Amino acid sequence: MATMVSLIGLINKIQRACTVLGDHGGEGMSLWEALPSVAVVGGQSSGKSSVLESVVGRDFLPRGSGIVTRRPLVLQLHKTESGTEYAEFLHAPKKRFTDFVVNLTLIDLPGLTKVAVEGQPDTIVEDIENMVRSYVEKPNCIILAISPANQDIATSDAIKLAKEVDPTGERTFGVVTKLDLMDKGTNAVDVLEGRAYRLQHPWVGIVNRSQADINKNVDMIVARRKEREYFETSPDYGHLASKMGSEYLAKLLSQHLELVIRQRIPSIIALINKTIDELNAELDRIGRPIAADGGAQLYMILELCRAFDRVFKEHLD
Ligand code: GDP
Ligand code: NA
Ligand code: MG
Repeated sequence: MATMVSLIGLINKIQRACTVLGDHGGEGMSLWEALPSVAVVGGQSSGKSSVLESVVGRDFLPRGSGIVTRRPLVLQLHKTESGTEYAEFLHAPKKRFTDFVVNLTLIDLPGLTKVAVEGQPDTIVEDIENMVRSYVEKPNCIILAISPANQDIATSDAIKLAKEVDPTGERTFGVVTKLDLMDKGTNAVDVLEGRAYRLQHPWVGIVNRSQADINKNVDMIVARRKEREYFETSPDYGHLASKMGSEYLAKLLSQHLELVIRQRIPSIIALINKTIDELNAELDRIGRPIAADGGAQLYMILELCRAFDRVFKEHLD
């Protein structure tokens, strides 16, 4: 968790810089749009909402056997003045550029289905798939491809779609849920060790809260402890224990996010420097006296740009 939260601070600074630059020039916004979002993809009831929650370490999503997410729930992590983070739904894929605290976007996508049920249009299966695809095909979207262990994993819809939109697998994380629900005498070791189906990033196995746990209001801390105990004491997965579970997935994801964000920093610095040059030229043209309103505003933006420039350079070290 620590890594996920500290990352939010960096994303926050980048977004502020992009907002300032966007106000001034207009290129800033496209830089912000290139920052990563994280989406969960998988069949209905595969455990998508549960995984998203346990990766963040907070309960915030509608979740359970009878609950179906019909449209993408877009969630943004925020940081308050006091530094504590909180989450908020937008319930619409809309970004708020004027809000300086928006940080990381998480997307709980509707479950992929195989057949239309009574009362649904025949096109529903394709409609859902197309909608999910429209999110995960974006090159900045990090895909958590969720496959429940009690179904055929290598041929799961999640893996199929992820492979289609991300053939090299550089932004796909394969997640196997419900390991605790597999038939006795079977296990998912071949998948988790990458032999059944190779992915670029390592597969991560998960044991989330069961429906009974949810009914009993088992909280996140207890759920994570039980998950850790499950792997540590498992005859099948004991040797993989340090590379399994929600906390490990959160760590992998944070490392990946950080890498992606760091790759963006040089182009943001270049844009900042270009903006500083332009602002200096503009200030020279209208004369330095900063009492005039227009000049004062430009001067303030210039100072902000310099501050961001320093911050990003520190992060590069
Ligand atoms: P979604 O529909 O894909 O978002 O799936 P949910 O996260 O809502 O989970 C669907 C159901 O599966 C709920 O009853 C969860 O409690 C249950 N569930 C999810 N993950 C696991 C798991 O790892 N083990 C067990 N036993 N149940 C799980
Ligand atoms: Na569900
Ligand atoms: Mg759900």
